[in-house]
Amino acid sequence: MKEVAKYLIKVEAEFKNGQIVPEIPYEEVMRLVNEPNIVIIKTGLPEATLRSVIDATHTWAESTPLAEGPDPFDNNQHKQRLHIAKIQQAPQLFHDHTFDALLDLDESMKQTLLGVFTPMRQFWNNLTGNNEEYGIRKGQPYFHPQVTHYPLGGSFFGRHWHPLNPQKVGTILALNQYGKDYSSGGTGYVINDHIVETEGFQDMGDLILFRYDLPHWVSPSSFADRFSWDDPAGRWVAILPFYDPWAKPADKDEPQGWKAQIQAPKNATPEVVV
Ligand SMILES: [Fe+2]
Repeated sequence: MKEVAKYLIKVEAEFKNGQIVPEIPYEEVMRLVNEPNIVIIKTGLPEATLRSVIDATHTWAESTPLAEGPDPFDNNQHKQRLHIAKIQQAPQLFHDHTFDALLDLDESMKQTLLGVFTPMRQFWNNLTGNNEEYGIRKGQPYFHPQVTHYPLGGSFFGRHWHPLNPQKVGTILALNQYGKDYSSGGTGYVINDHIVETEGFQDMGDLILFRYDLPHWVSPSSFADRFSWDDPAGRWVAILPFYDPWAKPADKDEPQGWKAQIQAPKNATPEVVV
């Protein structure tokens, strides 16, 4: 593993027998995440697997009407997000594809998506000590597999945050390549009042891990390009949120819980208890 910037740590991994196996133990990865740091796992997922998710999702979206109205959290749908989140006031412009009913997709589409979501799910289970499967469970947390497209020409997601639990650690998998498929845009974080931008540090197949209550955002794609909802050019990521959509949403005040909860932040002098 290697610290590539302040609070940004790269960890090598192997993709073996369908599993992402990091070079250091899962507990050690979680310790780094909780310190907190942003951890980039070099998953080794094959390029063909990653690209097939983009192609399948784009093809599926072309033949599936855009969703409108409130999210039901129990189907497969896609939506052009262009609004300001009610509580947190985070502005956003991106195209998301949510596969809450992933197991109901046709066999080919399902297998393509599972090619990335199953390794992500098992990795997250190993990190958090869970053993969760897919499926919709009203009144309980469950997985919300999502493929997000940030089109060229001005897509972004403003600063926001999530409750720490039950997700604990957020996961963002890069499905295509910075510098080749897109030239701007990436996730940013704030840790101990320090801005951590991952733009340019996340290669295709890299999985970003972050403590889920850290304020974060997605920096914009360049306004120098023409914007188009229909053009699949731009940044694509897969994420695997785990939450109960009917539970109390995050507060409008930023959760600086990690400041209070972490007994000995990295580089800090231990407090003397008297
Ligand atoms: Fe987020």
